[in-house]
Amino acid sequence: MNMPFTTAIRGNFFDIAACVDHPQQLGQQLRHIPDGLMLLHEGTIVWFGSWQQGESLLPPGFEIAHYPDKLIVPGFIDTHIHYPQTEMIGAYGEQLLTWLKNYTFPTESQFCCEQHSDKMSAFFLQQLLSNGTTTALVFGTVHPQSVEALFRQAAALNMRLIAGKVMMDRHAPEALLESPEQSYRQTRALIERWHGKQRLSYAITPRFAPTSTPALLEQVQRLRQEFPDAYLHTHLSENLDEVAWVKELFPDSRSYLDVYHQYGLTGEKSVFAHCLHLEEQEWDCLCQTRSAIAFCPTSNLFLGSGLFNLQKAWQKQVRLGIGTDVGAGTTFNMLETLGEAYKIAQLQRYQLSACEAFYHATLGGARALSLDDKIGNFDVGKEADFVVLDPAVSPLQKLRHENSRELAEQLFVLMTLGDDRNVYRTYVDGKVVYRAAKCQEAA
Ligand code: GUN
Ligand code: ZN
Repeated sequence: MNMPFTTAIRGNFFDIAACVDHPQQLGQQLRHIPDGLMLLHEGTIVWFGSWQQGESLLPPGFEIAHYPDKLIVPGFIDTHIHYPQTEMIGAYGEQLLTWLKNYTFPTESQFCCEQHSDKMSAFFLQQLLSNGTTTALVFGTVHPQSVEALFRQAAALNMRLIAGKVMMDRHAPEALLESPEQSYRQTRALIERWHGKQRLSYAITPRFAPTSTPALLEQVQRLRQEFPDAYLHTHLSENLDEVAWVKELFPDSRSYLDVYHQYGLTGEKSVFAHCLHLEEQEWDCLCQTRSAIAFCPTSNLFLGSGLFNLQKAWQKQVRLGIGTDVGAGTTFNMLETLGEAYKIAQLQRYQLSACEAFYHATLGGARALSLDDKIGNFDVGKEADFVVLDPAVSPLQKLRHENSRELAEQLFVLMTLGDDRNVYRTYVDGKVVYRAAKCQEAA
């Protein structure tokens, strides 16, 4: 066989082979290869199967990255996160609207400074990678330089990243406001510069309805028409006071989502974070327009916003990914985030299985971002972004791991007890971009 490859990875692989429309279908799509081989050519997967089948493909002496006793899964996908809020995680005492006013806006004001944007972009990307997250849909601030810095550094890593500058023209401090025309011009310039460059994409990012005048939403709509394959990323129905405020600000709209829908902002490339207090017709609109949801468990708990109805999302066939929503979210770590998703489901008597949780964090998230042809599992032809997890790093984890026989149980224990200590290696574009410190490996 004449198939060029540059890298060989051997180990215990788990992924989901295909997208599903019902959680019951996941059982048929689980792909667990306890002793597997994956061959990469540069940043692309060119062969995936069992070691037994693949061993003969390797020329004598070919170097193999072998990870016995580890678990290799596709890179995690974070479908909603704010990089400028990294430094304000754990801001005490408030719910959404006062949290924004008291903590978020002052923090975001600092990103007018290029140096600050550079420093925080580097820190943020390292946090993603050290937590096994290889793709994210990211909010910047209103300052174009905030996303310039992030895109520049993600490009250097050849990461698959989607980001955008915030657009807002009311109900925030003066220093964070812009005119609709300025917002249009600056966003347009960023799209032209970054959208489709390497593995980067642009998300048109109106913060949310309350910080948008109708004139701003018109400019968002204009951009959307001019760049139909760019993403649209915003917040929807997170907090009850917010929902009531939107009704006051847009009395002619049928619902919160209708504000966005009237400006043509729903659709296949639209991702709405939260969606906690939706009316039936809003669910229907999300479904009919093929819009996607980012479910943000730790944020929803931290800000006391509400409980996301996962079962309803399945019933309504709305595509869904998981978001950490840092800094309202309290961790970058997807394992911890899935553990909290499980508890949110428990409070509503829905059993979130580990396999379903891992689906949402990988292939399901890729589908929500219309990227399931590029990332999310180990299919040949996909981009080589993956994580090598150490399934047990602490005495407690080891004790519990030894007591779990099935892979589903091991995964469930990981999402209950796991965190960034379990991330042993992160690969982006076929290359190691994060390596656990030696002391961590020995723990
Ligand atoms: N709604 C509008 N802006 C924000 C934000 O920065 N974080 C969260 N969680 N919700 C928002
Ligand atoms: Zn958010």
